[in-house]
Formats: sequence, C-alpha cells, structure tokens
Amino acid sequence: MSSTDKKVDNQNIEVDLDHVPSHIAIIMDGNGRWAQKRHLPRVAGHKQGMNTVKTITKAASDLGVKVLTLYAFSTENWKRPKAEVNYIMKLPVSFFNTFVPDLIKNNVRVNVMGYIEELPEGTQKAVNQAIEDTKDCTGMVLNFALNYGSQAEITTAVKSIANQVKMGNLEPEEVTPDTISENLMTHSLAPFENPDVLVRTSGEERLSNFLLWQVAYSELVFVQTHWPDFTADTLKEVIHTFQGRQRRFGGLKETN
Ligand code: FPP
Repeated sequence: MSSTDKKVDNQNIEVDLDHVPSHIAIIMDGNGRWAQKRHLPRVAGHKQGMNTVKTITKAASDLGVKVLTLYAFSTENWKRPKAEVNYIMKLPVSFFNTFVPDLIKNNVRVNVMGYIEELPEGTQKAVNQAIEDTKDCTGMVLNFALNYGSQAEITTAVKSIANQVKMGNLEPEEVTPDTISENLMTHSLAPFENPDVLVRTSGEERLSNFLLWQVAYSELVFVQTHWPDFTADTLKEVIHTFQGRQRRFGGLKETN
C-alpha cells in the first residue's frame, strides 16, 4: 500500500494514518457552556459530554491511537456544587454499564489513574469492574483521569522516591528523570506514557494541573469546540494539526 492509499480524506480533513499520534490526551472542557447556550442545566452538558466520550473512543481506536487519556475529574473539581459533583460521579457507572460491550468489541482496555480510593463506592465499583472486564483487550487503552491532579501525583511520586532512599534501596545520586516517570501514575502506559498531543476544548488555553511532567514535549492543540460538540472530524482536524507540526524534542531536526 502506498502512503497515498493510507490517507483518508473525509470532508477535506486529511490524516496520514502512518503518523497518527500514539497518545492523545484531552482536557474535555465546555460542558457547562454547551448546556448554558441551550438553556439547559450544566449537568445536561456533562451527560452529552459522556456521549462524546463514546464517539471519540471509537474514532480514536479506529484511527490506530494507542492511548486516549481523558481528564474526567480533577482533584480540584470537588470544589464544585455538591449536586454537580454527585452527577459527574454517577457518569462512570452509566458509561460503563452501557458501553463495556462496545469497548470489548473494539478491543479497548480501560485504565484509570487518580486517587480512586477517594471516589464514592459505586463509582469505584464501576471503574474496577470495567478494568477487570476489559483486561484482556490488546488494542487502544482508554485511560480516564479521575480524581487526578498532576501536583498531587508528583508529590506522591516524590514521597515514594524519598521512602526508597530512606529504606536504603536508592541513592539520591541515582534519581534521574526516569526515576520520576517510573513513579508517576502514567508509568503503566509505557512506552506511551507521555502524550504526543494534548488537546483542550472550548477555547481555554490552560493546563489545569493535568500531566504537567508528561507534557514536557507534547504538542498543544486548543480548539474552540465545546466538548459535547467534539466529533470524529474534530479529532481528525486535531491529528491533521499535529501532523503539520515539527517536533524537535530540544534538538535541531525532526525525530519522529
Ligand atoms: C469540564 O467542563 C468538564 C468536566 C469537569 C467533567 C467532564 C466529564 C465528562 C465529559 C464526562 C466523563 C465521562 C465519563 C465516562 C467519566 P466544564 O463543566 O468546566 O465546562 P464549562 O467550563 O463550560 O463550565
């Protein structure tokens, strides 16, 4: 097959299937604004956002993405009104109840990173069941960041490294960037622990405590689309933008 054959051209969005980013991370923003625009309660935006997760999981998997990381709930999101937090906490239950058969059909494995033990029991149960049900899937990893915060993650990693030093299992001089990476929640995603591209929807251009260590060399793509309106074509546009970037990783010429 020539490289031209491997290009798909859908509504003029061209994606080179030979260079699809292995790890795409998304800050799913704009659910509230999507709902507000329609004079709906904010939670209607989260519900629609959950449906978008289904569409984009399938689209990313079909395009050959290896890891799709979605920022579903941050360690700071507990500050939201209790009713909204409760609603978001029920979404994984509803999502996995209806979508696990599709995930298995598409060979998608579920992973969750974050302080899961602090989630309501029902949410923990749904998440752990989905991880168990999809554990033999060998295709894309759908990685939810749930009760995740990068500063907390790095703090936990530093504590763990400090303990290894205290126990005499590690010398301070032996601590390298790899030691830090190995102690982060993304370690199990290796060799794809660092996103190739980080997307934020809804026009905001902030990292909001998401994967601060791991995005050191990620391409950042900001789109205006609110998350509930994000489609398979928006994903292709993001990939197209990524493919137009030259990645140098601090060097002088493209290395990917
Ligand atoms: C940010 O939009 C969105 C969230 C904090 C929640 C994201 C959750 C989902 C999309 C559903 C996740 C689904 C599963 C299966 C876990 P916002 O509310 O901050 O939007 P706004 O900035 O417009 O107010």
